[in-house]
Amino acid sequence: MKQLLLEKALEARENAYAPYSHFLVGAAVLAEDGRIFTGCNVENASYGATICAERNAAARAVAEGARTFTAIAIAGGTESEGITDECFPCGICRQVLSEFASEDGMQVILWDGKGEPGVYSLSHLLPSSFRL
Ligand code: THU
Repeated sequence: MKQLLLEKALEARENAYAPYSHFLVGAAVLAEDGRIFTGCNVENASYGATICAERNAAARAVAEGARTFTAIAIAGGTESEGITDECFPCGICRQVLSEFASEDGMQVILWDGKGEPGVYSLSHLLPSSFRL
């Protein structure tokens, strides 16, 4: 499953719209019911309006009725060099993902373009997430 999720993230990365940063990101969320939802970053001339790949994938999942995610794969890197390092989700994306983490948490799978993907738990990346 790790491999499939990463493949989906890489596929989504091909559609990244990043004419300003030239940093392309793809993400694939695995919902508890087995469905996979993908997203890429979508930049805007008004930079702050940019949406990250992870939140794009999360929003697509929620729009299709998924509410619980067990894993997300993320692949990011520059247009010129490709994927050379693990691309950790930004703080806002960590918070958004935490809203939909399963009771057993969410695995965050990151690929550095070389060897085995790194696997982190979302609660490790964002302890004490904000909750109402
Ligand atoms: N970006 C993501 O898509 N996900 C992240 O977790 C970090 C940053 C995007 C936003 C922007 O389009 C580009 O990467 C550079 O910040």
